[in-house]
Amino acid sequence: MTFPRIQAKARANIALAKYWGKSDLRYNLPAVPSISLTLDGLLTETTVQLDERLKADRVFLDGRKAGAKESKRVVEMLGRLRKESKSKLFARVDSTNHFPTAAGLASSASGFAALSAAASKAFGLRSSDKRLSAMARWSSASAARSIYGGFVELPAGKLGDSLLAAKKIAPEDHWDVRIVVAVTAKGPKKVGSTEGMERSRKTSPIYDAWVEAAPGLTRKLRRAVKAKDLDRVGSIMEQSTMSFHACAMSSSPGILYWQPGTIAALRTIETLREKGVSVWATMDAGPHVKALCHAKDASRVKRALGRTEGVLSTLVAKPGAGVEVSEL
Ligand code: DP6
Repeated sequence: MTFPRIQAKARANIALAKYWGKSDLRYNLPAVPSISLTLDGLLTETTVQLDERLKADRVFLDGRKAGAKESKRVVEMLGRLRKESKSKLFARVDSTNHFPTAAGLASSASGFAALSAAASKAFGLRSSDKRLSAMARWSSASAARSIYGGFVELPAGKLGDSLLAAKKIAPEDHWDVRIVVAVTAKGPKKVGSTEGMERSRKTSPIYDAWVEAAPGLTRKLRRAVKAKDLDRVGSIMEQSTMSFHACAMSSSPGILYWQPGTIAALRTIETLREKGVSVWATMDAGPHVKALCHAKDASRVKRALGRTEGVLSTLVAKPGAGVEVSEL
């Protein structure tokens, strides 16, 4: 029997209030709440097809067979869904990232969101978005947010809360803002976020203060997003990003994600602000700078960042939609 080939499309997201730290390793629950914006154009397409001839799951990334390490979290998610659907079948997974060349952005959020949606349907499960978000979160917590479009919140999780999921706080057409990405280095980051946040939890003297402060920042940020107050969203976003980087830097051994181009891009943003442009910075577990601004200012911000020393390339993204699933 031939099973249907299910395709899902999901987009990357950028955290405006950051997730950094876990409260439960077994279910991969975040210790702090986070708020993100799903980004149009930064797309992952994943197809899943069950096959009774297979003796194990087979995973292909961008057209090549994935190594054991790369496919570990994929195979683990398929295992959970197999169990939930009481199936004994294995699947072939093909995942392709349609990210602009050298985007320098992580594809794990869009990748696990797309996988959660495509694989759930392939196993015949009629999962709600909430359920898909919880499934994606288990593989990578930021992926829980990419199930939804627009502005999305993932609450902090309490020990054992296996169903924790993200929720939409405003749709993609709520607010015409842009994210301008300034790529400041080539190649993969040195310390992955899972490893980095665990090191912070175990060794950073300011980790507890971060976990205590994060809910207040998220609450204020949610209100400011709803009120479309860019100066307020921006200043809270910068405090959240600086706090999490301070946490990473003060770990042992210290984790410094920044490159010279990172600091230069931060200065460019500051200078633009002095000239009256409302533009604000955030960075993830890597050296690239993402600037948040009004749509009308995006080309000016892109030009200024593109001229900044150490910035290799720039791209502009607008708010994007949530996951879409279809049968091929
Ligand atoms: C700095 O979602 O990649 O980008 O749950 O361990 O897979 P795991 O971590 P991940 O962490 C993202 C951290 C961040 C901030 C954020 O996106 O909120």
